[in-house]
Amino acid sequence: MILTSLRLKNFRCHKEVLLNFSENLNYIVGGNGLGKTAILESIYFLCTTKSQITSSDKEVVNFGEIGFEVYGSFSNQVTDEVSVVFTSETNKKNYYQNQKLKHRLSDIIGNFPIVILTPADHQITMGYSADRRKFIDSIYCQASRTYFKLLLDYNRTVKQRAALLNGMKENKFNKANELDAWTEKLIESGSELICYRKKFFSELETYVKQAYFEILNDRETPSLKYFYLSGYEGDNIKKHFTDLIEKFKNEELRRGTCLVGPHKDDFVFEINNINLRTFGSQGQHKTFQVALRFAEFFYLKEKTGKTPIFLLDDVFGELDTKRAVRISENLRKVGQTFITLTDFTNLSYLQRQNSDVVIKLDKSGITYA
Ligand SMILES: Nc1ncnc2c1ncn2[C@@H]1O[C@H](COP(=O)(O)OP(=O)(O)OP(=O)(O)O)[C@@H](O)[C@H]1O
Ligand SMILES: [Mg+2]
Repeated sequence: MILTSLRLKNFRCHKEVLLNFSENLNYIVGGNGLGKTAILESIYFLCTTKSQITSSDKEVVNFGEIGFEVYGSFSNQVTDEVSVVFTSETNKKNYYQNQKLKHRLSDIIGNFPIVILTPADHQITMGYSADRRKFIDSIYCQASRTYFKLLLDYNRTVKQRAALLNGMKENKFNKANELDAWTEKLIESGSELICYRKKFFSELETYVKQAYFEILNDRETPSLKYFYLSGYEGDNIKKHFTDLIEKFKNEELRRGTCLVGPHKDDFVFEINNINLRTFGSQGQHKTFQVALRFAEFFYLKEKTGKTPIFLLDDVFGELDTKRAVRISENLRKVGQTFITLTDFTNLSYLQRQNSDVVIKLDKSGITYA
């Protein structure tokens, strides 16, 4: 899948912009605050209907305007015209594919797979378990509609059951039968979700090892561990889930919330069997984040049969030259890629080829170099 052109209207600092892209590497170069990340953000909107930065669409509207518009042409064998139009007056966002309004997220996600590596990826390896769950789910939801629907269903169940527990905690009502029904549903869809994640996570590990090997040539070996149901490692997930719920029953009623289930899962990353989150250096964290995104890319490519668009925001700053060179070499294998840089001068290893496009942003506007 190739994004051949992009048009932005009142999107952050971009009043009106039309860009044409290469099917290989696209460098977006310019000083701080000139709108490089905003261009990546608009591409992310086209593929996912939303921003990777904010959940507020209003924030994205150019100051003083009432809405923003993003138009993109994707081509494979056929051309798809996609647009996202947001109006802050009604707080309404419409997504069109070939002029047809798409209502359901599940009809959109996965059509144009996308992978983005940003400085915020620090959260994946350094942050909370919620950040890691979000990362894992965002990959798997693009690859499997079944998983996507299962996750929505499970999240709804957690919400309903938590509301019931909270009501019971405040002694508003005693609905033990209703709670039992929700508990059963939680165990049912939660166990299924864990099975999916187990399978997915062990598959992803292979891709991460491969990406790591290509970046570092085997000096460090990464591994991934899935931590679910308080560290359970056996095969009888449903039974263990049921036992744990029983064990935490009083605690759940006392605190008025759901304490057991895959909404508490965590994913542990290791290098040479040492916990990255606790002991990793800055560069090791960054390298791991890069490997995770390369792994995501090749996983999605394999599973969806479509080549994702790859976005890299500010990647090269924290890495030593050797690692940076290998990453840039690997980008040639990837497909269409968008890379933001503040400057080319210190990055002579990024060997530009004729088919690449360099878009320069400066105060007077946008030029192709
Ligand atoms: N809603 C908005 N309307 C107008 N301008 C905005 C809006 N939101 C952000 N901006 C401005 O638009 C620019 C967007 O910057 P962006 O994050 O894309 O810059 P960047 O080129 O990636 O910079 P850096 O190199 O620092 O990462 C910033 O100057 C920001 O202040
Ligand atoms: Mg930026």
